[in-house]
Amino acid sequence: MPAITVTAPGKIILFGEHAVVYGRPAIAVPVSQVRARAVVSANPHGAPGDIYIQAPEVDLEARLADLPAENPIALAISGVLVELGVARSPACTLRVTSTIPVAAGLGSGAAVSVAIIRAFSAFLGKALPDERVSALTYEVEKLHHGMPSGIDNTVVTYALPVYFKRGEPIQILRSPVRFTMVIGDTGISSPTALAVSDVHRAWQENPASYEGLFDVVGQLSQAARRAIQSGQPDELGSLMDKNHACLQQMGVSSPELDHLVETARLAGAQGAKLSGAGRGGNMIALVKENIAPAIAQALLQAGAVRAIITTVRPPRIH
Ligand code: MEV
Repeated sequence: MPAITVTAPGKIILFGEHAVVYGRPAIAVPVSQVRARAVVSANPHGAPGDIYIQAPEVDLEARLADLPAENPIALAISGVLVELGVARSPACTLRVTSTIPVAAGLGSGAAVSVAIIRAFSAFLGKALPDERVSALTYEVEKLHHGMPSGIDNTVVTYALPVYFKRGEPIQILRSPVRFTMVIGDTGISSPTALAVSDVHRAWQENPASYEGLFDVVGQLSQAARRAIQSGQPDELGSLMDKNHACLQQMGVSSPELDHLVETARLAGAQGAKLSGAGRGGNMIALVKENIAPAIAQALLQAGAVRAIITTVRPPRIH
C-alpha cells in the first residue's frame, strides 16, 4: 500500500479575533505558503494497533500507546479511531512535519490536526468529510485553549476564506477581485491560551467595556464581508486600522506588533493590524500588489523575522 500524504494550510485572521470567542463574526483566510504535512505508511510486519509517530519539529518519536491521551497528535488519532469505530488500526508510521511557525497566530495546531485526521482516516479506507474533519480538529483545539471559537479549524479544513460566527453555518467568502496582504512575524512566541484567558479575565472585570469593543469589532467584520463580496477590498484598509485600535484597547497588542503595524502603514500599506491572539506572533497589512515586496522588506528591516506575501483570489470557475 503506498504511503498517504495530506497537507493543510496555515491561516490568518483578517478581522474579529477574540471578539469571535464571544459570539461576534470574524473573517479568516488560508495561507497556503506555509503548510502542515502528515504521511501515513503501513508497517506490514508490525502488530495490529501499533502506531509509530514521528514529529521531528517537536522532537517526538514514540508509539501512540506510550503518549499521554492529552497529546494533540494522540488525540487527533484517537478521535479518528473512535469516529470510525476502529478498535485496532493496521500497524503504521505517522510522520508529521510543518512549515507553519508555532504559537504565531498562523493556525499551526489546527493545520497539523487537519492533516493527521485526513491522512489517518484515508489510511483506514474511510476518508472523513470536511464537516467531521473540522469537528474532530475542534476537539484537539480545546487542548490549546479552553474556549476556541472554532474559526481556526474551520478555515484550515475548508482552505477557503470564511466568515465565521459561532453556532451559525459557515459562510465561504468569495471575492470577485484579488487582493494582497503582507504578513509580518514578530518572532515572539505567544500561546493563544494565555491571550485568550487574559481577555477573559479582563472581560469578567469590565464586561460593559469589553462587550462594547466586541460589538465594534463584529460590525467591522460585517463591513469587511460586504467590502470583500462587493469587490471593494480597498475599503479593508481603514477597517483593519480600526480593528487594530480595538485590539490595543483589549490589551492584546504589544510594542513589537504596534511597531510593525506602524512600519507597514508608513511604507504605504492601506491599513494594518495584529492577527491572531496577539501579544506576539503576526501582523497583517493590506497592500497594493506592486508594492508588496517593498513592504515585506520594510517589515524585515523593522525587526520582523519573516514576511509572507499572500493573495486572496476570486474562486476558480470549473
Ligand atoms: C486565534 O486564532 C483566534 C482567537 O480569536 C481565538 C479563537 O478564536 O479561538 C484569539
